[in-house]
Amino acid sequence: MYSNGNKEQNSLLRKAELFIRQFYKETCMDGIENRLSDLRQEIHDTGTYKHRFDELAFGAKVAWRNSNRCIGRIFYDTLEVLDCRDLSEPNEVIAALEQHIRTATNEGNIKSVISIFQPSHPATTEQIRIWNSKLIRYAGYRTADGIIGDPEEADFTEVCEKLGWKGAGTSFDILPVVIEMPGKPPIWFEINPDIILEVEIEHPDLEWFKDLGLKWYAVPVIADMVLEIGGIHYTAAPFNGWFMETEIGSRNFGDEHRYNILPEVAKRMKLDTRSDRSLWKDRAMLELNQAVLYSFRKKGVRITDHHTASKQFTTFCKKEADEGREVMADWSWIVPPMSGSSMQVFHEQWSNQVKSPNYFYNNPAWKKDVGLPAKSSCPFHINSKLTHQT
Ligand code: ARG
Repeated sequence: MYSNGNKEQNSLLRKAELFIRQFYKETCMDGIENRLSDLRQEIHDTGTYKHRFDELAFGAKVAWRNSNRCIGRIFYDTLEVLDCRDLSEPNEVIAALEQHIRTATNEGNIKSVISIFQPSHPATTEQIRIWNSKLIRYAGYRTADGIIGDPEEADFTEVCEKLGWKGAGTSFDILPVVIEMPGKPPIWFEINPDIILEVEIEHPDLEWFKDLGLKWYAVPVIADMVLEIGGIHYTAAPFNGWFMETEIGSRNFGDEHRYNILPEVAKRMKLDTRSDRSLWKDRAMLELNQAVLYSFRKKGVRITDHHTASKQFTTFCKKEADEGREVMADWSWIVPPMSGSSMQVFHEQWSNQVKSPNYFYNNPAWKKDVGLPAKSSCPFHINSKLTHQT
């Protein structure tokens, strides 16, 4: 028998059984008793168990359905699941990540995709990790005159530089991807630039807008969350959807601690920026979001607006109620960062209880060496409550 603590094995068995029961119930499949007895034997012999592909795909979709902060959950069943659990060589992982970007980008008609790599064994701290928060992101360089690029990536950019990467120093340099295979030092690689779709931002009416030199990438791929299914932790399971325009316009460009573009837009719009009461921020933010939507649509890159996404979320809630499931949601994340009360979601309330399967936050892999515990009983759950991710 695998020398794993009995207590841990029992807890894994409990979670595994719960998940397998949910899977058989929702998919109306026969044969649950055989599956459960195989599962018990496997956990007893090896200390862990392997999901069948149908279980894995179901788990990844339900994890999305259970993501309290996601407004786009109506699409959870369309998630394309790429099984990368057999890949053990860095080169294979790199190829798989590039294939993920190609499949998801789909020449602008973006598809939701997840690539699931090998899970960690419950009895070890060795795991495969992607160090980036998103597969595609722009670097942020600290200089004497402030940060060039994305301030949110300044720490990670320094990590990449320490590993030997050197960026061009512009505001929109794509960061390299850093991967860590179990028990090995991290390695980094540059994504083939030909497969990264980007959109230059212009405005339908304001001619000068394109002179701001703004652009954004087409596909948001979250790379640092842990997919938990039936007690198994997939520590490398990057997944993507498509953007809602406020993520880029209001937050990535608008936030003061990000690109902080509102003052420049307002100046060019000749707004009175001396007084908050001129509502210059609101007017600049509106034009910025309009420009993002317009530019993505013009280039044929899938993007949603916050009104459409909110309506879809309301439909999702109705559909879930019809299925007899209660929707959990985090109000402060569901309500879009613009014109909140003009959407139905603003007027709703939900329980924010966390269900499994789900996607959980993890400690940044590159902070391991600076005093954070490498493994506690379950770091993911703790962080899921505390950390805000954009
Ligand atoms: N807001 C994050 C960003 O701008 C992306 C989060 C995921 N977004 C999505 N539409 N699936 O990088």
